[in-house]
Amino acid sequence: MIKIGIVGARGLSVVQAIKAMPDEAKITAMCDLDEGALQHAKDQIGDPDLKLYRIYDDMLEKADIDAVVVSTPMQLHVTQSIAALQAGKHVMCEVTAAVSMDELWWLIEAVEKSGKIYMYAENYCYMPEVQLVRQLVKKGFFGEIYYGEGEYTHDCTSLRTWHGKTGWRSYWQMGTRGSFYPTHSLGPVMQCFDDDRIVSIASFSPGNHNPFGLRNDDLTQTMCQLESGKLVKIRVDTISPRPHAMAYYQIQGTKGCYESQRLGGGPMIALDEDGKPREGCYTWKPLFDYKEYLPERYKSGKGDAAGHGGGDYYIVKDFIEAIKTGVQPELNVYKAAEWTSVALLSQLSVTNNGRLLEVPNFRAGMSWAEKKIKI
Ligand SMILES: NC(=O)c1ccc[n+]([C@@H]2O[C@H](COP(=O)([O-])OP(=O)(O)OC[C@H]3O[C@@H](n4cnc5c(N)ncnc54)[C@H](O)[C@@H]3O)[C@@H](O)[C@H]2O)c1
Repeated sequence: MIKIGIVGARGLSVVQAIKAMPDEAKITAMCDLDEGALQHAKDQIGDPDLKLYRIYDDMLEKADIDAVVVSTPMQLHVTQSIAALQAGKHVMCEVTAAVSMDELWWLIEAVEKSGKIYMYAENYCYMPEVQLVRQLVKKGFFGEIYYGEGEYTHDCTSLRTWHGKTGWRSYWQMGTRGSFYPTHSLGPVMQCFDDDRIVSIASFSPGNHNPFGLRNDDLTQTMCQLESGKLVKIRVDTISPRPHAMAYYQIQGTKGCYESQRLGGGPMIALDEDGKPREGCYTWKPLFDYKEYLPERYKSGKGDAAGHGGGDYYIVKDFIEAIKTGVQPELNVYKAAEWTSVALLSQLSVTNNGRLLEVPNFRAGMSWAEKKIKI
């Protein structure tokens, strides 16, 4: 039985999943500075023995926990993850992984030194639509993938204040330049490129026209060149006045494409299934016409209790599995670092007229000399 402590109220997104695996995991502690959030957690979790803490160090020292789910504001992720690892706990951490490049190096070093599991909670990678596309990619339906696109358009301007005061999002999200929140867009797309990695990025923006005094660009387009030479484009836009479209994706291969439609109608694909190019005569078909190719576990209905078509269940399941087997999950600290570094390098690129910047090759055993930003 894996005993879990949560820090930050958003971590309650794991409650239903953990309740659906009662023999494997249990939430035994909850930490939040806000008394109201703690009371809410107690109601949600419904266990009279749940231990509540306002001070994070107290939870790490006193609670009976094997793992921590870090769900506090972004600027706390690295320090709280490292504190947990140093206390001998496994970590599943919310997005993004860090708010500076130095923090990424600290995090990687702490994970390597601790030998504990670190899982990056990029939940968009677990959405059924994304999982289905990934299976179709693996089976070759799209041929060789050479282009991907992801967009996170989510007008967050109302979240710039919190209980009438300037909130953390005014600083660490909408207060920074560039693609500060890229991984919901990058994660699902990068999973279609196997072991390829991002080697360079360049970011561009149309300027700053928001009436709220937020420092972030109206939106940022970031071009990511992969090691193979293939291309990924992402848009992070949390300011534009428009309806949300937080999980918009495109994949293009030599035999067809996928597009999650922005304006309704559902996700679509267009293929030359008989292997012959259709030469200008492609038509859309609903993606879910191919639902037989969903990963088997998504078809079982076992994860339905936790929402998002099983996605919220299987992200937790993979974390628990990683702890049980001692094998780092697919969404490990190196993926977290690569995808998060796009945000951090994007700040530099967009403030330097779209300058192309190299992305470090995040992997085990990097030397001190390799841990740098190359301008
Ligand atoms: N994966 C997703 O889909 C998704 C969605 C929303 C938010 N997020 C991420 O989740 C994180 C939290 O976002 P949110 O919307 O819940 O933020 P929020 O501001 O609504 O809540 C943060 C919570 O953390 C608590 N907190 C702050 N500092 C603390 C500390 N030192 N110790 C203990 N508790 C503390 C606050 O009291 C609050 O309850 C962010 O990193 C955000 O990027 C991810």
